[in-house]
Amino acid sequence: MTSSSGPSKTQALYRKAKTLIPGGTQLLSKRPEQFAPDQWPAYYREAHGCTVIDLDGREYLDMSIMGIGSCLLGYRDPDVTEAVVQRIQHGSMCTLNNPEEVELAGLLIDIHPWADQVRYARAGGESMAIAARIARAATKRNLVAICGYHGWHDWYLAANLGQESALDGHLLPGLSPNGVPTSLGGTILPFEYNRLDQLEAIVARHRGDLAAVIMEPTRSSDPAPGFLEGVRSLCDETGAVLVFDEISVGWRLILGGAHRKYNVEPDIAVFAKAISNGHAMAAVIGRAAVMQAAQESFISSTYWTEGVGPTAAIATIRKMQRIDVPSHVADIGNRWRAGLESLSGKHGVPMTFSGHPAISKFAFDHPDSLALETLFTVRMLNHGILAATALYATLAHQPEHVDRYLTAANEIFPELRQAIENHNAATRIGGPIHHTGFRRLT
Ligand SMILES: Cc1ncc(COP(=O)(O)O)c(C=O)c1O
Repeated sequence: MTSSSGPSKTQALYRKAKTLIPGGTQLLSKRPEQFAPDQWPAYYREAHGCTVIDLDGREYLDMSIMGIGSCLLGYRDPDVTEAVVQRIQHGSMCTLNNPEEVELAGLLIDIHPWADQVRYARAGGESMAIAARIARAATKRNLVAICGYHGWHDWYLAANLGQESALDGHLLPGLSPNGVPTSLGGTILPFEYNRLDQLEAIVARHRGDLAAVIMEPTRSSDPAPGFLEGVRSLCDETGAVLVFDEISVGWRLILGGAHRKYNVEPDIAVFAKAISNGHAMAAVIGRAAVMQAAQESFISSTYWTEGVGPTAAIATIRKMQRIDVPSHVADIGNRWRAGLESLSGKHGVPMTFSGHPAISKFAFDHPDSLALETLFTVRMLNHGILAATALYATLAHQPEHVDRYLTAANEIFPELRQAIENHNAATRIGGPIHHTGFRRLT
């Protein structure tokens, strides 16, 4: 780790940001408060591979969420960067359309032969709003059954109208629907993953009104036998559109959507994040019979036509066709988890693990878990490592990066053990405990 002396420019800028930008950042998951308030570096000057350099010139190994899963090949991937720079030099925007969007459509449909047509956006949440709109337009129905997190838009947050905790079990707790028209209340019907009985109950009550079932094909565990097939059958029976949200899990378990691993085909699949390795891009792909409804509802936006996103997606997908990224990230994730499991036993620090190896998570199995997590993160920062409770493994991570992380963790775990014994993790942090879920910054 290189460091610079003097007051931290990174921390000072974030203090200023909070006076100018409500909530400090544009994405909840990038708030330093989610990791270690007042200590986590909010800003980067440079990022490449799995290396991040903050505004003070401090260099970190990123063993955390890697751009919230947006950079599966690692930061500033050379092949993607080269393609993008060329597109920029030729002009990334003009009155006419970029031909890459047609090439990308062909590529996506080749990988997903059940799909016939494609629409684009630039972010995950907005592409899910497009999918929900298309499904409602195609079926001329209103109600949507959902499982999991699908972004910030009105259609989804409507689930929390009336009952603010309806989405709490779906990745992000505490999502406030303030500002969402109350008239949307009752339009979104949540069910839990692997609970086909819950979806059956929704179908029994709303059979002729269900426009869509919108869910991730998997998030942290494999589907129970028959679960995805059961969802597919219920959609077939009722005429609801089955939408798989592949924004976070797509490309990580297998090339293309994770649904390919489970052999269950949706009517629409949505990709963003890793599809374009750090450049804004999202794709909604689907069967022609459903996608044609996009012509009968107004869905249109200027920057959905710029050329960098599709160019980055083509370069990213072509690279993933050449290199077996899913095997690599599974190996890295498994090595990380096995190493931590062994440290947990060695030092008597109780931990639990969850998630696919490609997006692996741990928790300290203790009432002081939030304080222990924050203490761990703060101590890892001193070792020049960005570490949280999840690792989004990437192609840029090599076994030696995991080993460096585990060597540092091995030095930190004895203090965690002491903190557990003395019930004083919170007082060791040197700042506040990290936040979880959505809440207002004071
Ligand atoms: C499954 C899923 N859907 C939708 C989104 C929203 O994507 P974005 O943050 O690009 O709007 C996310 C983001 O984490 C996600 O994990």
